[in-house]
Amino acid sequence: MNDKPERDNQTPKQRGRVIVKKLREHFGSRLISGAEVGVLRAMLAEHLLLNLRTIRKYYMVDRWAPVKPDSSYIRSLDKVPTFFRTQEQADAVLRVAIDRTNRCAGKRIILKGGSVAMAKVVPDHSLHFVYIDAEHTYPAVCTDLKVWWPKIMPGGLLCGHDYDNPIGYQGLWGVKQAVDEFVAALDLQLELRGRIEWFVAKPRKTESTNVRTLP
Ligand SMILES: C[S@@+](CC[C@H](N)C(=O)[O-])C[C@H]1O[C@@H](n2cnc3c(N)ncnc32)[C@H](O)[C@@H]1O
Repeated sequence: MNDKPERDNQTPKQRGRVIVKKLREHFGSRLISGAEVGVLRAMLAEHLLLNLRTIRKYYMVDRWAPVKPDSSYIRSLDKVPTFFRTQEQADAVLRVAIDRTNRCAGKRIILKGGSVAMAKVVPDHSLHFVYIDAEHTYPAVCTDLKVWWPKIMPGGLLCGHDYDNPIGYQGLWGVKQAVDEFVAALDLQLELRGRIEWFVAKPRKTESTNVRTLP
């Protein structure tokens, strides 16, 4: 048997539909607030803001800055950081993200900075969902999970991209390992849609039987 999943050939639109469907199933017609960690040109942000009218607040979190050539992000062979090698190029990507979401400017909050620093700006238990799609190395994903989990309210959803993407095999991405360990440590349920999109519901207070802490 071949463990290697099929390549993810979904277009951004198809991917957006998967996430909108899941958010609709989970939250119904409730008004919701969310955050996307790793936004790039706001392809997903645009899709969610335009197609999920129940979103009333959407944090767009990204450094929009070049990373050092010897960083783990570059070594992970992710092609995304090669899109902006200079601050001018990163600024241009940010402008695209702004233009793309201008129609929903009243709902978006742009947080330009590192994931850890920006998480501190968002109150704990204030978000219905967080979508993680920044650096895909194991330590980076562990950090993102740790700092964004407290932002989600009980009954909310933590989700993200590239759970088991073959594109990352060569560069040793660690999304799957980080998410699996996180889910096991907190005794949570992982749901996959298409092996790339992952979702974890945060138990409502009454559902939680064990008190567990992250390692
Ligand atoms: C895969 S792209 C995001 C794609 C976007 N979610 C979409 O679906 O259109 C990853 C983005 O994460 C950002 N990023 C990576 N590490 C980060 C960190 N630690 N803090 C903030 N942003 C980060 C990068 O600047 C890049 O724009």
